[in-house]
Amino acid sequence: MKKLFVSILFFLAICPAFSQQKINIIPQPAEVKLGTGEFVITPATTIVALGSDPEIKRIAGMLNQELKRAAGFELKIGSYPSKNAIHFKLLPEVALGKEGYRVRVGYEDVEISANQPAGLFYGLQSLLQLLPYQIESKTLVTNIKWSIPVVEIKDVPRFGWRGQMLDVSRHFFTKKEVMEMIDDMAKYKYNLMHFHLTDDQGWRIEIKSYPKLTTVGAWSVKKEGQFHAFSKPGPDEPRDYGGFYTQEDIKELVKYAKERYVDIMPEIDVPGHSMATVASYPDLSCTPGTYVVNSGDGFMDWHAGGHFTARVDNTLCPANENVYVFLDKVFEEVAALFPFEYLHMGGDECAKNFWEKSPQVKALMARENLKDMHAVQSYFVGRVSKIVSAKGKKMIGWDEILDGGLVKSAAVMSWRGMKGGIQAAKMGHEVVMTPAEFVYVDYMQGDAAFEPHVYSTLRLKKTYQFDPVPVGVDPKLIKGGQANIWTEQIYNMRHMRYMVWPRGFAIAEALWTPKANMNWNNFIPRVENHFKRFEVSNKKYAPSMYEPVVKVKKAPNSRLLIDFDVEVPGVDVHYSFDNSFPDNYYPAYAGKSILVPVDATQLKVVSYKEEKEVGRTIVFPVAELKKRAK
Ligand code: ACM
Repeated sequence: MKKLFVSILFFLAICPAFSQQKINIIPQPAEVKLGTGEFVITPATTIVALGSDPEIKRIAGMLNQELKRAAGFELKIGSYPSKNAIHFKLLPEVALGKEGYRVRVGYEDVEISANQPAGLFYGLQSLLQLLPYQIESKTLVTNIKWSIPVVEIKDVPRFGWRGQMLDVSRHFFTKKEVMEMIDDMAKYKYNLMHFHLTDDQGWRIEIKSYPKLTTVGAWSVKKEGQFHAFSKPGPDEPRDYGGFYTQEDIKELVKYAKERYVDIMPEIDVPGHSMATVASYPDLSCTPGTYVVNSGDGFMDWHAGGHFTARVDNTLCPANENVYVFLDKVFEEVAALFPFEYLHMGGDECAKNFWEKSPQVKALMARENLKDMHAVQSYFVGRVSKIVSAKGKKMIGWDEILDGGLVKSAAVMSWRGMKGGIQAAKMGHEVVMTPAEFVYVDYMQGDAAFEPHVYSTLRLKKTYQFDPVPVGVDPKLIKGGQANIWTEQIYNMRHMRYMVWPRGFAIAEALWTPKANMNWNNFIPRVENHFKRFEVSNKKYAPSMYEPVVKVKKAPNSRLLIDFDVEVPGVDVHYSFDNSFPDNYYPAYAGKSILVPVDATQLKVVSYKEEKEVGRTIVFPVAELKKRAK
């Protein structure tokens, strides 16, 4: 009987049809036992913070901040157990580790317990997600019961490294915006913000020993349109676009993040991606000249097979001792600001064509017996790793740091697919998996006919297939993974959220949830609940998951056949070829290829779910479909 009961509970926990309205937690917890009934928070409910650790009370108080905004009342905080109360307590339970927690919701009280404070924080996030979505409302919500379903949750994360990388170089995000991003991350149990602080388009952190990095290196010319295809700025165009964080700003951000159990890892991307650096200090380049911070005009040529050359030398000179003096000072100041144990040194996409021509580099190669450019980069990375470890930090870099050999102590961030991570783990390095094909949330998430153009596409369903541990690799060496938010094409916070969510939900789940609990059909209703949370808190998200993948085939007589792949269960696709806007009374795709009428110039499609329009109307020029036809 007990076995049957447990099986029913398990079924309830994983079966969307029964649990979707009640349990909408993202990432899906390890164990959920749904009961019947509910606990209702009213102004008479109390919060009980049990124990002497001040974090317990601080975390418990965060519930009040949410209630005050959305429900218009706060709860009294006491320190003795009682009925009609929400208890927060630390209980030694080694199996919960640093971040695991339990939430028990009964009719009469609620208890959140954890082994350590981080777990209480995550228990609170889950509790907030058990409340009606209106708890996220920016404005007061009345006429609602603040009910929480009776449930027992035991939860621990699959990985300790659950990151989002934010590129603030290509487009600058203010301190307040970065804080908002940290808030979003914490809700979904991310615990690391990787701060990409330097690149060709801007240096974003005050370095007191090298002031020009921010008086010169933080400023470019504002352009709008298609990044990489912008016109070259003229000498008279104002260089007033950009910004940087002072060291005081950084301290504030680190503290703000820490209060939400998020660490911040800085990245200083060298030796490539360094145009802003050489614009500030041209002598750090191997190629004498005058440089400007890039404003989005193209200066790299990308060739087949992942090869590239630079038209302007955007690298630091590996043969110049002043470069290592510079990096020593920079990493010293950076290390002092960020308590996180790793410093990221970039290392990616370093063009070597100017190094190849440099007499200094040739002399370095002869002196150090370096046979090729990989060996030169490896020499550089080796020098940087000594600097980083002298600052008491561990070094991590993009997977190119493996080229030519790498010190054992360095960790590798695999971005060119999983293969760099597999190779690194086989060599005994620690690995963070950030493969572009699963976690590059700057890629388009829907059809190129509609989404702002980026060079590749990553749909939500593919993101949801991310598994950081490849077959045959020691899982102990895989520290976790990250969503990477490159911002060449992301100009503002609203679009940043659009790009990150819902793919950020999928990555949160891949990094937290036991693999066996991941289930696309169960994920979607939870995503929909969180869309409502985003709506009531005025945050943008992408509805692209509702929009179909369009497949085109050639038919006889130069005709075309169209099919649609629908990724979200229950979505119907309606279409038109007569240029009018389809709605749910228009023909629906029924799984049978559609012949495009001879004279049609446009296919328009729109998605409906439960009689409601979801997603957006997408217009496909037939001429474009012809190009795609196989
Ligand atoms: C990268 O995307 N260049 C790390």
